[in-house]
Amino acid sequence: MSLSTIDKAFVKAFAQTPDVIAAAPGRVNLIGEHIDYSDGYVLPFAIADRTYAALRKRPDRLVRIASVQQRKLIVTVNLDDINPKLKGHWERYVLGVIWAMGINQGVNIMIDGHVPLGAGLSSSAALECSVATGLNDLFSLGFDLETLARLTQKAENDYVGVPCGIMDQSVSLMAKTGSALLLDCRDLSVRHVVFDVASSGLELLIIDTQAHHSLTDGGYAERRASCDSVVAKLGIRSMRELTLEKLETSKDEITETEFIRARHAVSEIARVIDAVAALEAKNFIELGALLNASHTSLRDDYDVSCPELNAAVNASLSAGALGARMVGGGFGGSAIALIKASHTQEVINAIEIEFKRNSFKAPRFFTSLPSQGAEIIQRGL
Ligand code: GLA
Repeated sequence: MSLSTIDKAFVKAFAQTPDVIAAAPGRVNLIGEHIDYSDGYVLPFAIADRTYAALRKRPDRLVRIASVQQRKLIVTVNLDDINPKLKGHWERYVLGVIWAMGINQGVNIMIDGHVPLGAGLSSSAALECSVATGLNDLFSLGFDLETLARLTQKAENDYVGVPCGIMDQSVSLMAKTGSALLLDCRDLSVRHVVFDVASSGLELLIIDTQAHHSLTDGGYAERRASCDSVVAKLGIRSMRELTLEKLETSKDEITETEFIRARHAVSEIARVIDAVAALEAKNFIELGALLNASHTSLRDDYDVSCPELNAAVNASLSAGALGARMVGGGFGGSAIALIKASHTQEVINAIEIEFKRNSFKAPRFFTSLPSQGAEIIQRGL
């Protein structure tokens, strides 16, 4: 990325020259869904699409926020007035980060977002992490990546009011080119696992179903609450301490719904570990089977899929995918399919036909190699 793509003229008009430009990517999650808030393991990678934040210090206590995509909206707020009750739109993610990081000096921030919105690819984490990375550098705050992940999650939870886990912000900040990020959500320790399907003639197709999801609709919070309730009733610290055997013997202490939600969490944590082993052994048949098992568990036990996601997965498999599953919070958004690179068009056609047959909105398709996490891409002009 260079300043030419962020639109020099607009930067100049808005912020003269930026002191710093930061970038942070969206993500897909290979496997490990709905377990980040249960102390599980997750295996996401950063996609190539990024959000850019150009920042410039101000001599006063004003915060001015604008975006290349919505030129009419320039928000001006005094630092002293920033609080979670302040109404607004997308700029609340930016204000939330400023609030969570305790920024104490005025700043101009211009955003250029290239992560598809509403596709379940974490455009919000990309926005938060680009701003946090820029502020950390601009004000020499010295926060490490783990702290930045926790602060950006706090911004989303406590300022914006979305009860997300820690996965999206962590991968947006910590990912490395060419690798998926094995993240232990219990302590945020990481291992970078090489994700190279191309050399085996494979490709990971990302299918944006165009069915829109919102983590604030209640379904996400309800799933989290079920997990919290299981943990409280069984007197454990998190799902991480549970095994399928222990869950079976504790069946009478929890509701039927709690049982199947917990079954998803426990089995999904195990699938992540198995997926890492399969990846490292280049056993893509096994990896595909694990993706399928993850989808089945999310669809049947966790109940967070939807007709569009199921159609994308089923059509991919019928067209020969090795494995496919929904990704992210669910109720819409994207699915992934592990396919032979030579079959991409066939799989796309099959999904398009299935969507048409069901009168669903036309899906969008992406592919992406694992990309770099948040970084400073330029200081000054
Ligand atoms: C959303 C949340 C994440 C995670 C996923 C489900 O993307 O932001 O924290 O819980 O859903 O795995």
